[in-house]
Amino acid sequence: MKLEIAVLSGDGIGPEVTEQSKKVLDAIAHKFDHTFIYKEALVGAIAIDKTGNPLPDETLDICGNTDAVLFGSIGHPKYDNDPSAKIRPEQGLLKLRKSLGLYANIRPVKAYETLLDKSPLKKEIIEGTDISIYRELTGGIYFGEKNLSKDGNTASDLCEYSKHEIERIAHLAFKAAHSRSKKLTLVDKANVLESSRLWRKVVTEIGEKYPEVALDFLFVDNAAMQMILNPSQFDVILTENMFGDIISDEASVIGGSIGLLASASIGDKFALFEPIHGSYPQATGKGIANPIASILSAAMLLEHFELSEEAELIRNAVDKSLKLKISTPDINTEYDNVTTSKVGDFIADYIEYPEDTNINFQNIHIGQSTII
Ligand code: IPM
Ligand code: MN
Repeated sequence: MKLEIAVLSGDGIGPEVTEQSKKVLDAIAHKFDHTFIYKEALVGAIAIDKTGNPLPDETLDICGNTDAVLFGSIGHPKYDNDPSAKIRPEQGLLKLRKSLGLYANIRPVKAYETLLDKSPLKKEIIEGTDISIYRELTGGIYFGEKNLSKDGNTASDLCEYSKHEIERIAHLAFKAAHSRSKKLTLVDKANVLESSRLWRKVVTEIGEKYPEVALDFLFVDNAAMQMILNPSQFDVILTENMFGDIISDEASVIGGSIGLLASASIGDKFALFEPIHGSYPQATGKGIANPIASILSAAMLLEHFELSEEAELIRNAVDKSLKLKISTPDINTEYDNVTTSKVGDFIADYIEYPEDTNINFQNIHIGQSTII
């Protein structure tokens, strides 16, 4: 298969983790005889520095004319600490999501057997956790009308949803639940918010078309608590934009590091794949950023094009790297010489020579491996 991939590596650790994903995609291309062509484009703070715009027209144009987007991360402390900044890196990502119509953000969360002791939660609580979060991505309070009064003392952000916006992601979430454990939880705040009551009504109606899927509802405050108390009770979680943003960051600690969580943002025409972590400026250039979230996002990209065997091989390679502790310091306290790039090398090598793994990777940490 030939795929043109727009690569928007962005700010902070974005470029270094995306580099690893390209390495891994190249190994897949080589092994399975695919052609992946990368078109690099600017986004975020680096785009502001170079063009004054966090999402230059050229970038949008490249994204609109390629098969998929591989995104790194955006953000820079100089904007985080300046609430008066009119142009911000995040605007680039939000405009990109809106312009490409990427209304469904899918964030898988799982507890890896080999990392159970890395989680801040108890092993017996997180064991067996496997959640797929469906976060609405182009509506709600993120995109509603914003106001700041003339005197600067009053501000508002409108949370608005239409039936149509709820329906289209609900169908995707029900289909996903149907192919998994057949349980869907709608997370909302229907005891307080009118928009949440619309979500409940519309999702309940759609649920009638998926009688095999058990639908239940949870207020977001309770969901935040349940995520820590008993995360393995969840299968598919469906929720609006802001709740999904918060709940998915919370869920990310279950696996032991936010550096493991991938995501896919899907619309009717376009698709974008990105790690859920941010730009982690303190780690930039130090070789300590975990590339797994980006690499697993690349696997989701392949899955999107029905290259399931390829995607599975990436996931197996990731599992192997975790088992052998070829991991960055966020999840590896035993070996301190494993850099971002070494993790990428290992995963790419495993993809090309999985059969050599058991022979050659045993002594990896004492430098005797023939692979890295
Ligand atoms: C995310 C991020 C973004 C969001 C920011 C960078 C705008 O936190 O993808 O979760 O809030 O959606
Ligand atoms: Mn977020």
